[in-house]
Amino acid sequence: MNGFNQYTPTEVIFGKGTENQVGETAKKWGGSRILIVYGGGSVVRSGLLDRVKASLDAAGLAWEEFGGARPNPYLNHAEEGVQKAIAFGADLILAVGGGSTIDTAKGIAHGTANPDTKLWDIWTKKVPLTKTLPVGVVLTIAAAGSEMSDSAVLTNTETGVKAGLGTEFNRAKFAIMNPELTFTLPDYQIACGVTDIMMHTMERYFIPGAQEMLTDEIAEGLLRTVIANGRLALKDKTDVNALGEIMWCSSLSHNGLTGAGRSARDFSVHKFGHALSVKYDVAHGASLSAVWKAWAEYACEGEGALERFARFARKVWLVEEEDDRAACAKGIEMTVAYFKEIGVATCLKDFGLDPSEEEIQDLAMKTTSNDTVRLCPARTITAVEAKAIFEASR
Ligand code: NZQ
Ligand code: ZN
Repeated sequence: MNGFNQYTPTEVIFGKGTENQVGETAKKWGGSRILIVYGGGSVVRSGLLDRVKASLDAAGLAWEEFGGARPNPYLNHAEEGVQKAIAFGADLILAVGGGSTIDTAKGIAHGTANPDTKLWDIWTKKVPLTKTLPVGVVLTIAAAGSEMSDSAVLTNTETGVKAGLGTEFNRAKFAIMNPELTFTLPDYQIACGVTDIMMHTMERYFIPGAQEMLTDEIAEGLLRTVIANGRLALKDKTDVNALGEIMWCSSLSHNGLTGAGRSARDFSVHKFGHALSVKYDVAHGASLSAVWKAWAEYACEGEGALERFARFARKVWLVEEEDDRAACAKGIEMTVAYFKEIGVATCLKDFGLDPSEEEIQDLAMKTTSNDTVRLCPARTITAVEAKAIFEASR
């Protein structure tokens, strides 16, 4: 087991009706002037936004609203939010929505606390981030795990780069999680969320030589839980217990717990997915499942990797094969079959895409930051291998 820092300072308030506590909670965390950030309007249509405003009013807090965060959110939209937050004198940014809204809120918090610095300079670490504003969350979709993660992802439409920023300043002060708020989700978003939650766990799992027993057991239990409850939720979208399990999996999959003690973390599948999302604007979860099979078939051949893939098959999919190679193949097959069952892409054709060779080359360069980074601890991926993985994902 390697040394690690586990810092998960987010107060989680979980359960029915908890959104009505948002006013008092925001006040407790130092908010008096709240910028409410939301997405394309689902929270307006569901009435949640009105309930949030009523709770802020009841707590005597001033608020201003800023909607329009789109899926795979844009840097320039967050920059607009910074201007709005500064003009209003916001002292707490409240995200009401999913990963795209939360990441926009995190960007606004960083930009507002550092008004003389370009947000992209913070994002690209040209300027170190040393302060931010508090961020609170009312979660409406279980997926990105941003409600507890140290990460935020924005797309720079000028450079065509979708990039994540990892920093402890990205940890939300509180996250309000009422699974009933996810009743209105379309099936596809539930499936994309389940896929993303699986990936956050798997991206920390396939590390050769890993032998952190508790971390493994947490990851495997989380994967079995989200897989089983994904099926239940897609059968009955009012199954509050299943949706609650998925929501809690979302937060724990990406708050650090499933990687504690590992010698490395991967996130190469996310790099592939970000390249796809920025070029074709596909949903994040599905962007990952579309390349996972080709990625796994490549990665499992790395030194020491087969053992991890075989363990994954036995512990997550309850495969009974004694031979590691046979178990590994079965585990990959069952994962891909599950993605098909819940309705996310398992290849580029599933998005209706048939990229040209130049487009594949461009995707490979985006994935590897112009061939400057070496991805995947299980088996190195440069632009050459990235291109082959995209080709195999056709
Ligand atoms: O925008 P609205 O109208 O709210 O609709 C959203 C959006 O269309 C809809 N939705 C959300 N809650 C709903 C709902 N519709 C009906 N009822 C509800 N209760 O769902 C759609 C997707 O929303 P989005 O916020 O984009 O979903 P998600 O949580 O999957 O976030 C994806 C973004 O998070 C980033 C992704 O790259 C992507 O940009 N990620 C952020 C991470 C982080 N900060 O730690 C880690 C992840 O790996 C991920 O990269
Ligand atoms: Zn993700």
